[in-house]
Amino acid sequence: MMGSPVDVIQSVRLDDENDMLILLDQTLLPNEKRFLELKEIKDIWDAIYFLKVRGAPAIGITAAYGVYLGTKQSEADNYDDLFADFTKVKDYLATSRPTAVNLFWALARMEARFKLEAGKSPEEVKAALKEESELIRDEDEQVCKSIGEYALSLLEPGWGILTHCNAGTIATAKYGTALAPIYLGQEKGYNFKVFADETRPLLQGARLTAWELQEAGVDVTLICDNMASIIMKEGKVQAVLVGCDRVASNGDSANKIGTSGVAILAKHYNIPFYVCAPLSTVDLECKTGDDIHIELRPSSEITSAWYEKPMAPKDVKTYNPAFDVTDHELITGIVTEKGIAYPPFSNSLAEMFKK
Ligand code: MRU
Repeated sequence: MMGSPVDVIQSVRLDDENDMLILLDQTLLPNEKRFLELKEIKDIWDAIYFLKVRGAPAIGITAAYGVYLGTKQSEADNYDDLFADFTKVKDYLATSRPTAVNLFWALARMEARFKLEAGKSPEEVKAALKEESELIRDEDEQVCKSIGEYALSLLEPGWGILTHCNAGTIATAKYGTALAPIYLGQEKGYNFKVFADETRPLLQGARLTAWELQEAGVDVTLICDNMASIIMKEGKVQAVLVGCDRVASNGDSANKIGTSGVAILAKHYNIPFYVCAPLSTVDLECKTGDDIHIELRPSSEITSAWYEKPMAPKDVKTYNPAFDVTDHELITGIVTEKGIAYPPFSNSLAEMFKK
């Protein structure tokens, strides 16, 4: 697989020597592979908001590096003043996107590390923050690999697998979540046939999933979102694998808009539907999906994003939720790095945290 995106593309990287965050601009894919060099916190906020970096774990890693770089710029000469500067950057980055809990999880973990260094010099605290941000990235790589191994145990060679949005290597430190078993299976000669939903309105499936799987030599077929039912009916799909932005404690799972429709179809056709998510995406404080804040995005993403001319009448009313919640009753299992949680999720997810 050497040369495939999994081995060569790191979508988020810290260049500490030059005080920069290096981000693959995912809005330009598949046409251009351009890396952004970001120093300003405002630019890092923009990169998250405008989806230059996207995917729950990658957003978390970016936030961790961002809060480190922002704190590094501080001229505070004592712990308390440095903490005040850290908090400003942290609170600002927390406003970039609301749904993926990994953003808040990573910022909270950075804050916990800051507090662990109580009383130390600004230089020592900055070094600790750098270490913590690198740990968050490195752990995500291991976590995704483990999710991939567990998920692979659910699949058989030659299966058709449907996925929605992009939960691939560029959405994480490496491997992805829903795509991790595809890559690990590829190494073992499983020959999966992957169907990638295009994922309206921003086409993460067409632009990103189809791109990274094709580059890796995986058999991938792009379909429009409204074609999922026909391929299921034709017997081409043996499992659905999706990523996730936030899992509530009862298993309700928020993922890219359209995911819940795919789950309803899978139930109808009796096809297993798996959510692949690290425990950093599980938010036990959300009791059900109703507690999950669903991001609303600008109308322009629906009315004028992809053609030179408007795609809809001027000033037409729009509704553009970026995510929806898949009811836990539609989910066969939630694959985490600690194992596969099965219904009832209120028990099985809590157990995963004890492992
Ligand atoms: O709006 P996006 O592109 O950030 O949405 C991403 C998704 O919905 C992914 O499926 C999810 O974050 C999991 S990424 C491993």
